Amino acid sequence: MTRTVYVNGEYLPEHEAKVSIFDRGFLMADGVYEVTSVLGGKLIDFEGHAKRLARSLSELEIRKPMEDEALLEIHRELVARNDIDEGMIYLQITRGAPNDRDFVFPPEETAPTVVLFTQSKPGLADSPAAKEGIKVISIPDIRWGRRDIKTVQLLYPSMGKMMARAAGADDAWMVEEGAVTEGTSNNAYIVKGNTIITRQLSHEILHGITRAAVLRFAREAQMQVEERAFTIEEAQQADEAFITSASTFVMPVVEIDGAQVGQGAPGPVANRLREIYIEESRKAAI
Ligand code: PDD
Repeated sequence: MTRTVYVNGEYLPEHEAKVSIFDRGFLMADGVYEVTSVLGGKLIDFEGHAKRLARSLSELEIRKPMEDEALLEIHRELVARNDIDEGMIYLQITRGAPNDRDFVFPPEETAPTVVLFTQSKPGLADSPAAKEGIKVISIPDIRWGRRDIKTVQLLYPSMGKMMARAAGADDAWMVEEGAVTEGTSNNAYIVKGNTIITRQLSHEILHGITRAAVLRFAREAQMQVEERAFTIEEAQQADEAFITSASTFVMPVVEIDGAQVGQGAPGPVANRLREIYIEESRKAAI
């Protein structure tokens, strides 16, 4: 089945979808994105993603091209047209395509470029990786200072995944001034006893939509939550570690820089949070 994608007001077969070579997203990574997961053909946490998108756009002074209702409609239309049961919707909005390359922002009337496409991932909820856990390595965090804005500048996170792969691991945790900021495309957590520890929100990390939901569920389940920075050494000595994101939900981490975490297998807290997150998200999906 040919995938149907959305580009600037049109639903097209993927090979017919085009954006300009002058697009600011292409030339300058001048754009933002969101990834919303789909379970049972319904959207998880659409409202949270729409809110963060509006904030990313406003921080960069990119015009918001449409209301949330219209965005929701496109998400739903793509899920239906591509018959997505489990997977993700990728959305990207850039500052648009002026007629040339220029560091100066284009005139205000330049229309933002809006692209959405689906990624079908059958088995997303019942992931084999979640049963085994993943291995991470640590790398220095050399990204820019506004990681709370979800921009498409993903070269370093992409290089981080390749460094992990070269080291026989699955992903990388980034470290700045001795403390873990976050994973290449996810938020990072450790567990000590009944306490879940994850870095506090700031410009240094992306404010994960999954993070917000998981911390809410953890507190509701009477677990303690500490929002503070932690080191790789502390993580290696923790009882458990895990990551969260729209594409992995809650994913246990069983090895950090070659050192086994806890028993070297997914722990009860990560497993329970994954279960609660998927169950509650299914219930609230729209
Ligand atoms: N990544 N931190 C970073 C750097 C991320 O790129 C992401 C998401 C997260 C988790 O945010 P959320 O829970 O809202 O997905 C944290 C997406 C999934 C991606 O780039 O594919």
